[in-house]
Amino acid sequence: MTIVTRGLLATSALVAFALPAAAQTEVKIGYALAEDSHYGVAAATFEEVVLEETGDDFTFTHFPSSGLGGEREVIEGLQLGTIEATIVSSGTLANFVPETGVFDIPFLFSGFDHARGVLDGPIGQEILAKFDDVGLHGLAWGEQGFRHITNNRNPIHTPEDVAGLKIRTMENPVHLAAFNAMGAAPTPMAWPEVISSLQQGVIDGQENPLSVIVSVKLNEVQKYLTLSGHVYSPAMILVSRPFWEGLDDDQKAAFDKAAVEAGAAMRGFVDEVETSGVETLKERGMEVNELSAEEKAAFQASIEAAYEGYYETYGEDLVQSIVNYE
Ligand code: PAF
Repeated sequence: MTIVTRGLLATSALVAFALPAAAQTEVKIGYALAEDSHYGVAAATFEEVVLEETGDDFTFTHFPSSGLGGEREVIEGLQLGTIEATIVSSGTLANFVPETGVFDIPFLFSGFDHARGVLDGPIGQEILAKFDDVGLHGLAWGEQGFRHITNNRNPIHTPEDVAGLKIRTMENPVHLAAFNAMGAAPTPMAWPEVISSLQQGVIDGQENPLSVIVSVKLNEVQKYLTLSGHVYSPAMILVSRPFWEGLDDDQKAAFDKAAVEAGAAMRGFVDEVETSGVETLKERGMEVNELSAEEKAAFQASIEAAYEGYYETYGEDLVQSIVNYE
């Protein structure tokens, strides 16, 4: 090796040493609940799989417990490209893709297998694809469970028991129509305001699945839990469209895989809390009652008027094809 070659080699080694490592892309992921909730577990799985699949292309920063704001604000952040990813309920999704609201119709799904089958099947996937038209990219469906009513006024057995009840609903016209038809006094509200509104008595109650009621310890501000299971509550793993468009094909495949695994982790967590949640809440002092089949039928009948509106908005054929999906 000549002196010149040796010199060149030494120089290139120095240059290589001095070059900064390829920049990692930060993925800010926001969600409404704590890291030990079904959302937190899904977000951790999402990160783990993306990192496994892509090496060190990405770094994740988690913003649990509404650290980036309410769900609507976070989704708007995704549209603007200031936030990369989120895990959200269907609460405000219909404001972005109106068709999503069909899954929020009460008493639509007979159980978990039915709901999961529809979301993972052609109807759910077609609606997921529509997020690309509004500055977002829907990666996969997850879930929260079936929603139940909690309140501080009285145990609930009949639609008469919710008459005039100031109940917080998500900012979701489908839920709002149902509670209006039931004769309650629904108040749509972003989640970050809910606990303080319950504490101050601005509202009497709220409705959410066991996964949420247990995770945020709603027993500390609510006395009665009625297992009404009046509506299934889907969740979605969403990324910003500008972020998605910046990924190469391998990275996109990694995010797709990670989202499916995150959705599965979320469903696994929900399955567990569905079996243990009621006992946990009783131990924490909540008074719990479950609606019998007849009581549930009375609630279903009480929202018949709302169904007319749902058929008008979403089409009776679509609603029936979901109800009859096998
Ligand atoms: O009730 C809601 O707004 C949602 O279920 C929650 C708790 C924010 C989780 O997505």
